[in-house]
Amino acid sequence: ASTGADGSEGYDLVVVANRLPVDFSVGDDGEVDWQRSPGGLVTALEPVMREADGAWVGWSGAPDLAHEPFEADGMLLVPVTLSAGEIERYYEGFSNDTLWPLYHDVIAPPTYHRQWFDAYRKVNQRFAEAAAAQAAHGGVVWVHDYQLQLVPKMLRELRPDLRIGFFDHIPFPAVELFQQLPWRKQIIEGLLGADLVGFQRGGDASNFLRSVRRLTGHTTRGSIVTTLDEHGRPGRRVRAAAFPISIDTNYFDQLARSPEVQARAKEIRTDLGDPDVMMLGVDRLDYTKGIRHRIKAYGEILQDGRIDVEHTTLVQVASPSRENVGAYQELRDDVEVLVGRINGEFGELGHSAIHYLHHSYPPEEMAALYLAADVMLVTSLRDGMNLVAKEYIAARHDLGGVLVLSEFTGAADELAPGPLLVNPHDIDGMKDIIVAAAHMEEREKRRRMRNLRRKVMADDVAKWSKAFLGVLTAVPSRSSHV
Ligand code: G6P
Repeated sequence: ASTGADGSEGYDLVVVANRLPVDFSVGDDGEVDWQRSPGGLVTALEPVMREADGAWVGWSGAPDLAHEPFEADGMLLVPVTLSAGEIERYYEGFSNDTLWPLYHDVIAPPTYHRQWFDAYRKVNQRFAEAAAAQAAHGGVVWVHDYQLQLVPKMLRELRPDLRIGFFDHIPFPAVELFQQLPWRKQIIEGLLGADLVGFQRGGDASNFLRSVRRLTGHTTRGSIVTTLDEHGRPGRRVRAAAFPISIDTNYFDQLARSPEVQARAKEIRTDLGDPDVMMLGVDRLDYTKGIRHRIKAYGEILQDGRIDVEHTTLVQVASPSRENVGAYQELRDDVEVLVGRINGEFGELGHSAIHYLHHSYPPEEMAALYLAADVMLVTSLRDGMNLVAKEYIAARHDLGGVLVLSEFTGAADELAPGPLLVNPHDIDGMKDIIVAAAHMEEREKRRRMRNLRRKVMADDVAKWSKAFLGVLTAVPSRSSHV
């Protein structure tokens, strides 16, 4: 650990997230190597951490991989080791087969297993201990996302001197859904170990506050929770509020202005046979993203003859995700059958209806795709924020392109009325809007994109983290105890 200006040991800002911002690989020679890893959270936090002199505690992404803390990109990376069994029960199980579907409005049925929760608790304790070992006295620890909701309370027990923040990157469900969770009380108490609990939307914060009132004895007033101790005496105060996340807007803007990316965007269109309209979907292959609904609508538009494959094409990037979880395997099969059927029925030699790419790409290629696409389709059934929508806007310095955006994203709360909003469950409504997007007049496109860029370019991820950390550190630590 570093020695701070005040002579104390440890890091003043410690980020705790399930993943480190790098992926490890072990070579044939047994050498451990690392590269950047994908994911919205990483994209969001990397610039923040590069500026602060901080430490980042997270999982390496591989089983049983133990590695000493090491310096990278101006921060200390602290790997947490998970066994293969823990990855199955804590990561694939409780995080992504219990919490993920429950928090996304049970689009897929959540599975409740007591052994999974035991692993979740154990792994959360390991993350809390790793963070406690790195943080300077009185330092700030910022815990991220649904995989680590027990960490704030565990960390407070280990280190009552710390200022603790938690940010939930995904939706927080209505209490009627949340209360299904057999461990609902433990989760709420875990989160209330923080001084500040942040959410994407005001609606998520209210859902959380309602759950606190309904499921615990603690009292709430506005956005403040006052915890009650076992004797019913008022204890600490915890604030719950919305901090809508953003992206490194300048980075995407600059990337899209670079001659290489612009040339690549032209090349993409040429490779596609110079369509009049190129539509684009970019998602992790996840059932929350509404990929099936989108492709179904697209197939029907072709069927109805409202577009044809010679003039219009859809590129669907679906990056591989959580491939050991059953619901994700089923989704992949469904999407691939659907894409195959539509291509078989409507495709012609040299003209595919849908270009389906089960890959992830570096940001340069993403920026080129954004720049090439006339219509961007974001049709999530539920989405905490959706950073792809913001990346598309940041890339369109030329004011071209139309964003079709689901009402069920956090981004819709922020960006309306600039995007064409859709309800992905309403296939007919979505078809009409996709067709309207394809035919939108240049002037109208530019007007909308200018509005969207005004909102997105002003609120980058640095501002987001400053806002969160500002509120977290504003309250003198003593006053967080009544
Ligand atoms: C979402 C979650 C992140 C997660 C990312 C990628 O954005 O909010 O916490 O890191 O998906 O998912 P994965 O399971 O691969 O980490």
